[in-house]
Amino acid sequence: MSQNNILEVENLNVKFYTYAGVVEALDYVNLTMRKGEILGLVGETGCGKSVTSLSIMRLVPPPGKIEGGDITLIEGSKRQPVLKLDDASLRKMRGKDISMIFQEPRAYLNPVYSVENQIAEVLIEHRKEEFLKMAIESHRKRTLENLAKTKGAKAAGDAERAGKVPSTFEISTYKRLLRNPHSRIARFLSRFSRQRIFADEVRKEVVRILKSVEIPDPERVAKMYPHELSGGMAQRVVIAMGLACNPALLIADEPTTNLDVTVQAQILNLIRQLKKNLGSSILYITHDLGVVAQLCDRVAVMYAGNIIETTDVFEIFKNPLHPYAKALLESIPRPGQAFKSIRGLVPSLINPPEGCRFNDRCSYAMEICLKVKPLFIEASKDHYVSCHLYGEKSK
Ligand SMILES: Nc1ncnc2c1ncn2[C@@H]1O[C@H](COP(=O)(O)OP(=O)(O)OP(=O)(O)O)[C@@H](O)[C@H]1O
Ligand code: SF4
Ligand SMILES: [Mg+2]
Repeated sequence: MSQNNILEVENLNVKFYTYAGVVEALDYVNLTMRKGEILGLVGETGCGKSVTSLSIMRLVPPPGKIEGGDITLIEGSKRQPVLKLDDASLRKMRGKDISMIFQEPRAYLNPVYSVENQIAEVLIEHRKEEFLKMAIESHRKRTLENLAKTKGAKAAGDAERAGKVPSTFEISTYKRLLRNPHSRIARFLSRFSRQRIFADEVRKEVVRILKSVEIPDPERVAKMYPHELSGGMAQRVVIAMGLACNPALLIADEPTTNLDVTVQAQILNLIRQLKKNLGSSILYITHDLGVVAQLCDRVAVMYAGNIIETTDVFEIFKNPLHPYAKALLESIPRPGQAFKSIRGLVPSLINPPEGCRFNDRCSYAMEICLKVKPLFIEASKDHYVSCHLYGEKSK
């Protein structure tokens, strides 16, 4: 446990109860993220990367169940036990403290709402008070300016000193709008110019956020619907939604998988820029080691529901320890060299192998590997591995 951590995942155990059997998706996963870092979570398909991120958001879908473990989000002196939060605190946490960019942006965007409305919904949910203050201030300024124009500076000064602008009725109207922006009364009131000020403030913020993710012509894009966006634009919009509330932790689950390489490079640049400008911590999920090398500070390698190695990005490429991590790195295609792949397949997580889950594919497997799960140990400074080849033989 360190002062510098933003997220601590301990012994996370997740299962899916399917008709075919129980899928042991996460097998006591341990993961730590530090403030301001980009941590790459890598591994082959089906190894549990998405289930790990969904567990952090507490969004594991049925028939999945988080069976045990702890997830703690740390901000300053505040420690939030994610798995123990009630529904209201959980809603507050999602989007505001942690937000997630999903694997497939189009599936995440609602096809019947414009970009503006979708981002506004996130803003209104999490930054209501801020917009209420901005709207009241904006209203006050405009009313005083109008008063000065029509009745003179003295009348405006008197109204300001008497604290009559905005009136108690107007403030209560704003509050009503905030409580339920989609209610019939809110829609009725929003036809009047004064109440529209609130919507104007939200709209301005939406445009600012779209600009921050380098969307060209953000005012126009704000009015568009998801089907009118290109793949790269849709992904930027989803990133914009993720960033709408400046979350302390952003989880990006393979955000560039379906994009061509030039757009992928732009999105990676953008994420790097966001980390630099906002100091956000980012959990970046990918199976692409090239992306890890370009983007990440540290890496956690997953295999069949276990984190098997974590270290910094230079160390993993220079000195990988776990046989799976070594094989994964050797399978990166290199010009002029024969293509290498890891023999065998990722095991089914219904009845996975006993002991080390990599034992049926590992050329170093020993007898102990067939029976005993290796502990996750610090093999050298800040380099953790779960393999019987390192440290003392484990339980
Ligand atoms: N809804 C579900 N029902 C049953 N099993 C599931 C479900 N979602 C995930 N799993 C299982 O949990 C395990 C981990 O899946 P997960 O989606 O986390 O893999 P991943 O590492 O994200 O893979 P990919 O790189 O393909 O996205 C897999 O064995 C998968 O079959
Ligand atoms: S624990 Fe054994 S089987 Fe597993 S990776 Fe290490 S040597 Fe191979
Ligand atoms: Mg996935």
